[in-house]
Amino acid sequence: MKWRIMAALMSFSLIVLVVQDIPLYNFMQANQHEQVQTSLQRDAFVIAGRAQSALWTGSADATAFLDRTSRAYRDAGGARVVVVDKTGLAIVTSDDDQTALGSDYSTRLEVADALTGTIASGERFSTTLNEDLMYVAVPVLNGADVIGAVRLTYPAKVVDDAVDGQLRMLGIIAVSTLILAGIIGYIIAASLNRRLRLLETATQKLAEGDLSIRADESSGPSEIRALSSSFNQMAQRLNVLIEQQRRFAADASHQLRTPLTALRLRLERASDLISEDPKAAAQRLRAAETEVDRLAAIVEGLLLLSRTESSTAPAETVDLAVVARERVEHWQPLAKEHGVTVRFEGPAHAVGLAIRTAPEQVIDNFVDNALGVSPPGSRIIIRVVDGVTVNVSVLDEGPGLSEEDCARAFDRFWRATSDNQGSGLGLAIVSRLMFASGGSARLEPRSPRGLCAIAVFPGSK
Ligand SMILES: Nc1ncnc2c1ncn2[C@@H]1O[C@H](COP(=O)(O)OP(=O)(O)OP(=O)(O)O)[C@@H](O)[C@H]1O
Ligand SMILES: [Mg+2]
Repeated sequence: MKWRIMAALMSFSLIVLVVQDIPLYNFMQANQHEQVQTSLQRDAFVIAGRAQSALWTGSADATAFLDRTSRAYRDAGGARVVVVDKTGLAIVTSDDDQTALGSDYSTRLEVADALTGTIASGERFSTTLNEDLMYVAVPVLNGADVIGAVRLTYPAKVVDDAVDGQLRMLGIIAVSTLILAGIIGYIIAASLNRRLRLLETATQKLAEGDLSIRADESSGPSEIRALSSSFNQMAQRLNVLIEQQRRFAADASHQLRTPLTALRLRLERASDLISEDPKAAAQRLRAAETEVDRLAAIVEGLLLLSRTESSTAPAETVDLAVVARERVEHWQPLAKEHGVTVRFEGPAHAVGLAIRTAPEQVIDNFVDNALGVSPPGSRIIIRVVDGVTVNVSVLDEGPGLSEEDCARAFDRFWRATSDNQGSGLGLAIVSRLMFASGGSARLEPRSPRGLCAIAVFPGSK
């Protein structure tokens, strides 16, 4: 991957450099040519000024002076100077050999133009020199008369070479930029690659069953850190879920083993007795039925507990006074059968926070327990107290529990006596539901007798 990122960065940089440098080169070249043309023109006029007296008077001194000026100019700037008289014959050149002196330059277009009084400048191929030339030709005037012309020529190659030199410099910068982009790309990619590899290793270990593995969330780019954090959350959740499943399986096998053995014994006895003593057999079968009901309750309780543990439902506002009154209505007929009265105490409304159906399940568990221990003629009170929290209590007049047992009653499968038909899961479920709602549950002994089961729900304010 790192090579791909590096190549991508380098290609991108290359495209940027090409797109940027080609127009830049063209601009530089045009600019350089223009500058040379301008200075050639300026110099041509200066030399034309000096050529005036040599052309007009034809004096040897003036011609010699012009000759020296031309050579000095050539030596300083490199341009070749040719001064012609009005017929186009060269009277001075800056050449070292004097072979061109007296040659007819009127055949050169720019010289012909200058002799008509116009300024000619441009670039053309010189067949004599076999190269591109930049030229400027200006007329030498005496008043309104053209008495000659000055032509300056400069090899275009010299200008182009200068631009090429600059381009080479640009090229070096471009290559350095490319190499730098490559190195930076490689460093970034290598670091990304290393972190992804670590994450990949962690994923592999998790897949192999190592649930304790965690990815490093503390360093690296934010995207990788977010990915590591999500991975860790997933691993954590997986851990919790697997632990729940394991506990469920362990609890179920442990708790179901004894009632199943008892059930088998009862059924065996019933089958032995069925022909000799059908009445006794029927009794055994009824006992077996009760055992089956208990088994079903245990399985249901375990499933409910497991679901509550993995629930991530949010707490919602609920009027706990309304729910409590409704539960009183619900339990009334069954309580009556036991000769027990159920009463509500509290305000008309008390809004608290709870996960859905938690208040109903909690009150039902409390009342179910209370009803199981309430002697006939006693009272069960469902009391709601609205404050910072909303407390829902179920008070009975049964045998109660010691302080110690009040705390243990929330343990899974704990029962004060084994002749109790319950599964011992009701209060464990209450505890989980209250925890998920952001509240808590506890038992308190009542004086002189009885028990107070309290559920504390968070207030909604
Ligand atoms: N109001 C109460 N008075 C006296 N003992 C109680 C009271 N409530 C609960 N207990 C004791 O606490 C134990 C655990 O209660 P819990 O509700 O968890 O289980 P359970 O009632 O036995 O079974 P389940 O509710 O699962 O059917 C009970 O078996 C009982 O011994
Ligand atoms: Mg119970």
